[in-house]
Amino acid sequence: MAELRSLKELESSKYELKKVFSDAEDFLPLLGTDYIELYVGNAKQSAHYFKTAFGFQSHAYAGLETGVKDRVSYVLKQEKVTLVLTSPLQKDGPINTHINIHGDGVKVIALWVDNATKSYEETTKRGAEAFMEPTVEEDEYGKIVRSGIRTYGDVVHIFIERKNYKGPFLPGFKKWTSHYSPDPVGIKFIDHIVGNVGWGEMNKWCKFYAETMGFAQIISFTDNDISTTYTALMSKVMSNGNGRVKFPINEPAEGMKKSQIEEYLDFYGGPGVQHIAVATDNIISTVSALKQRGVEFLYVPETYYDDILERVGEIEEDVETLKQHGILIDRDEEGYLLQLFTKPIVDRPTLFIEIIQRKGAKSFGVGNFKSLFEAIEREQESRGTLNSVSL
Ligand code: FE2
Repeated sequence: MAELRSLKELESSKYELKKVFSDAEDFLPLLGTDYIELYVGNAKQSAHYFKTAFGFQSHAYAGLETGVKDRVSYVLKQEKVTLVLTSPLQKDGPINTHINIHGDGVKVIALWVDNATKSYEETTKRGAEAFMEPTVEEDEYGKIVRSGIRTYGDVVHIFIERKNYKGPFLPGFKKWTSHYSPDPVGIKFIDHIVGNVGWGEMNKWCKFYAETMGFAQIISFTDNDISTTYTALMSKVMSNGNGRVKFPINEPAEGMKKSQIEEYLDFYGGPGVQHIAVATDNIISTVSALKQRGVEFLYVPETYYDDILERVGEIEEDVETLKQHGILIDRDEEGYLLQLFTKPIVDRPTLFIEIIQRKGAKSFGVGNFKSLFEAIEREQESRGTLNSVSL
């Protein structure tokens, strides 16, 4: 029933999406996600992990050797996904504070725009809190314009205008060549980036994306859709006009025990990015490669596959192979999707990665949420954080 209700909502919200974007010109046209920057305790070692385990390639570097004194940044790339890993080089700076509060986590979701000045003006005049005024940076490869606004928690959106720039990444970065380049694993682009926000704050942040950035809500799940015996959450998916940038926003809901969103908020020290979903066009080969390189995924009980074809209909993949890898399947009226979630990739039970392959489906796997959450609860149990709450 949960699936049916959500699909109906999806249908009507798609109509809404078309209506919203035909009524008004998109005041914040986004060309895509430019990069994701994580503040981490040891960028050199994190970069090695993302290369070895996830198949990212060395791309650019900034640090003492390039004249930067207070931080070091390693830029990694795989197809259209760019990750920046930054660590402080001194004590007592804003990066140190971020790491102290949150552990390793996402600081910047950078968005690729044609005009960073206009993006700043359009969003701040609609109420977005400024993070960085439009700033021009130049080097021998040309110029970049950057500006930024704040979103939930300590996360910021930086608008990047790079139409007049030919360098490897940004001014101040040099190309990073390495003799160590493990093969890519087939990660192609960012499908969506999910934020966890506090109790009762989901609508506030959806409104923020709608009003200040011109996004529209394309789907919503209530705690009736997403709950297990113990825990619950609510979620809404916000999308920009061309659908290239999608941000689901989760908030905790009342359950018998502590929800995974609350666990996240406790350990992250507030709202933040919960997971980054990256797309592949061959999930079986991507997941096999990741497992071989030591990436750990949530365990899916074998019983999940017992009646899978009755639930999702015909699929091209061999069910036994999917079962062997624990890959989840869900269907909406436009097709199906295959997905799998890693365990947290940092020390705290916070940030994880989703691997997703879409075969027509535009939704987010609501049919899998229950089995996914039960898998997360098993992990919470082992961490001693699936505590009873007093209702
Ligand atoms: Fe997701």
